[in-house]
Amino acid sequence: MRIAMFNPSESERAIVKGIAAKQGIEVKLVDDILTPESVVEAKDCDGISILQTVMLDQEEVYRTLHDYGIKSIGLRSVGTNTIDFDLAKKYDLIITHVPVYSPRAIAEMAVTQAMYLVRKIGLFHEHMDKDYDFSYPTALISDEIYNKTIGLIGVGNIGSAVAQIFSALGAKVIAYDVIYNPANEPFLTYADFDTVIKEADVISLHTPLLPSTKNMISTKQFEEMKNTAYLINVARGGLIDTDALIKALQEEQIAGAGLDTLADEATYFGKKVRVQDIPEDYKILRAMPNVIITPHSAYFTETAVKNMVKISLEDTVRIAEGKKPLFAANK
Ligand code: COI
Repeated sequence: MRIAMFNPSESERAIVKGIAAKQGIEVKLVDDILTPESVVEAKDCDGISILQTVMLDQEEVYRTLHDYGIKSIGLRSVGTNTIDFDLAKKYDLIITHVPVYSPRAIAEMAVTQAMYLVRKIGLFHEHMDKDYDFSYPTALISDEIYNKTIGLIGVGNIGSAVAQIFSALGAKVIAYDVIYNPANEPFLTYADFDTVIKEADVISLHTPLLPSTKNMISTKQFEEMKNTAYLINVARGGLIDTDALIKALQEEQIAGAGLDTLADEATYFGKKVRVQDIPEDYKILRAMPNVIITPHSAYFTETAVKNMVKISLEDTVRIAEGKKPLFAANK
């Protein structure tokens, strides 16, 4: 059994040999992401595994995989927004993902960014670095997290882990989700979307990117947020209207933002880029001391990376062996 693994990171390369040996399979490492050019690397394989934020919307890729007799595309991610599910259906391809590789990895990044902002670390850095001013201006006084209301949009595996951490820190957690899960009750109070937007001191997004959730945070929501609120996005950049976010920050409609993901990140996150290719929105946001940006690295922990590779390969092998996958994402 031979699986083509596209776009393996350095850390995945270091562990995949051991995982493959345990599963009794051969893994062919392909440097590129999956594209119409690189798909040929799957020709001699029984399945493929991918990890990318770039859209996979070229029909040629799906048709070629089908022609090679490949039965599935295995995503080493939770999110499936890069996939064209109509094309997957047309070419009989099962899409698998890894819904639970480590909700804590993502949740801890959301909490870390929130704490960085609430304790005004970026603002203090600017204050010290610009003027060697180590004093305590009133503008930089902060509050403590257990006095805050945390508002979560989406409380599936990751949002629920965020709720558990914040409630353990003593904060009040309110949450909106289209699905009610009684298991979340000890950690949060369910509320409607508008209430979360209006009442939270920290709003954290944990919902998939779908046509219905694209730009769910835009001008109206920024107008409704407290001007002391912080917005955290460790989910998908497309959930936030970036222009509206920049305006809200410039006009002090909100106090700051923590961003592990940006709408246009596929053009530069995960790569070394030339200075002249850095997008304008990144430069504007990065220059703000009340904004913290990380390069879609919430997932990047030893536990998460190991599970992403292991679970994704296991499901790909199951399908190639004619078994039912554990984590199919096709509707
Ligand atoms: C996910 O698992 O959905 C992530 O956001 C990780 C990313 C590397 C695609």
